[in-house]
Amino acid sequence: MSVPSKFKALFAEETNGNIQVSVKELPASVLPDGDVTIQVEFSSLNYKDALSATGRNNVTRNYPHIPGIDAAGITLEDKSGTFKQGQKVVVTGHDLGTNTFGGFGEIIRVPKEWVVELPENLTLKESMIFGTAGFTAMYGIERLKRELIMPESGPVLITGATGGVGSLAVYFLSRMGYDVVAASRKKEVEFLKALGSKDVISSEELLSVSEAPLLSRKWAGAIDTVGGELLDSVLRQMYSKGAVACCGNVLGMKLDTNVLPFILRGVSLLGIDSAFCERDQREKNWKLMAEIGVNDLPEGFYKMVSLNELSAEIDLILKGGQKGRVVVEH
Ligand SMILES: NC(=O)c1ccc[n+]([C@@H]2O[C@H](COP(=O)([O-])OP(=O)(O)OC[C@H]3O[C@@H](n4cnc5c(N)ncnc54)[C@H](OP(=O)(O)O)[C@@H]3O)[C@@H](O)[C@H]2O)c1
Repeated sequence: MSVPSKFKALFAEETNGNIQVSVKELPASVLPDGDVTIQVEFSSLNYKDALSATGRNNVTRNYPHIPGIDAAGITLEDKSGTFKQGQKVVVTGHDLGTNTFGGFGEIIRVPKEWVVELPENLTLKESMIFGTAGFTAMYGIERLKRELIMPESGPVLITGATGGVGSLAVYFLSRMGYDVVAASRKKEVEFLKALGSKDVISSEELLSVSEAPLLSRKWAGAIDTVGGELLDSVLRQMYSKGAVACCGNVLGMKLDTNVLPFILRGVSLLGIDSAFCERDQREKNWKLMAEIGVNDLPEGFYKMVSLNELSAEIDLILKGGQKGRVVVEH
């Protein structure tokens, strides 16, 4: 296997200040310098990819660009000698798909430090059913566990629960024996229960709580993928010594809250930066996901798309309309 001279990619280009994507065939010479060249077989769609593909939130500074923060495939060559040719590997996070050409291209070239061997018990496709979404959910759970939030501590709330990170957080936590409550704007009770939620509440209910600095204690832990006012409500509803893993900002980047949950209840707000997760923890997150596997995911949890179908899925994720995961097959 050698590096092909051309490859297909979803290419994001700037015209008069607007970013537009199209599927293009590109010469391999556009790939950056790096150690490991990978034939990408599968990628997946995350919210951040949609921001990169549409020029939002400064996720990507320079265009033209190939988005795709996730990639699973086979090594074509490794100048560092760390990986054998033909090895199955996964790359998520770091700078992949943000400012380095990413997994929406059939080939990527990255530093060896970004590459993880495909975990045992997972296929390349299964690794992308999880992708950064699953990785982030598992990283959030690991951070809650470090704060001693265990199944016996009490219920754990997941916000944005039908989205990628949210739905996989529900799935993993319920398999680990936690009582999970899913908060969603969508009427998808059946889907969320099939994933493992014990109960489902509406996000509106969380957003319409009183403005009191502390509210009645409801959650031992929480994984928040939404941010903004919703995160403020969650913080005010935490048990004493509860912990909230803060992952996302689909509702906004600002957090307007008060200090009483922290100074009177000892609540911890944990930052989750999955892109830069340290290597030991990175490998552990993959191992834990592989142990749970994909077999118990409900029917229809993910959809397979080609590069040509990706644009419509990008529009849908930007509207908060995705349910579960979108896997890209090259
Ligand atoms: N920190 C990290 O390392 C990390 C890693 C991955 C992702 N993220 C972030 O986590 C967030 C979720 O990512 P994702 O890939 O899971 O995206 P996603 O699949 O689009 O999930 C987001 C979910 O949030 C809910 N939502 C969307 N817009 C909303 C709004 N205006 N108000 C309230 N709820 C809303 C929706 O769920 P319901 O309809 O069920 O409410 C939506 O499905 C994003 O902000 C992403 O950038 C962070």
